[in-house]
Amino acid sequence: MRDEKGEAELPHILILNGPNLNRLGKREPDVYGTDTLTDLEQRLFQFAEGIQTELTFFQSNHEGDLIDALHEAEEQYDGIVLNPGAFSHYSYALRDAVAAISIPVIEVHLSNPHAREEFRHRSVIAPVARGQITGLGFEGYKLAISYFMNTNNK
Ligand code: DQA
Repeated sequence: MRDEKGEAELPHILILNGPNLNRLGKREPDVYGTDTLTDLEQRLFQFAEGIQTELTFFQSNHEGDLIDALHEAEEQYDGIVLNPGAFSHYSYALRDAVAAISIPVIEVHLSNPHAREEFRHRSVIAPVARGQITGLGFEGYKLAISYFMNTNNK
């Protein structure tokens, strides 16, 4: 992105985590591991520093807050990494919010929902996302950030 003087700024990516991801570390450790959301954010922060990228983090358990964050992201970020949690499987409102903005969104899941209960096999977000990364834990977020860095698209 460029500032008002037309000078290049660091790419800026929003990392958006949905419901129950604030419970990482305590929540179903057999599925999600014992690292916390703060561990994730610290690791991504260090990773982004190394590749000259700016990150902003936001987590909410509330559908409307995530929708507001997506709307407000317009014009502000080069890409969004979104883990919609269980909203992935049924929130048409969140899907519409992703479709309503022009910034590319990559859907990320720590676990592999396709290998879990049947209700997790469908994502209503995936058809409007740039892509989906599942089952790779924290690495999935880094891959999504790298994609935005390497493609440099809006
Ligand atoms: C999740 C997978 C979802 O099915 C689940 O509801 C979550 C976490 C993941 O990161 O693996 O909350 O999005």
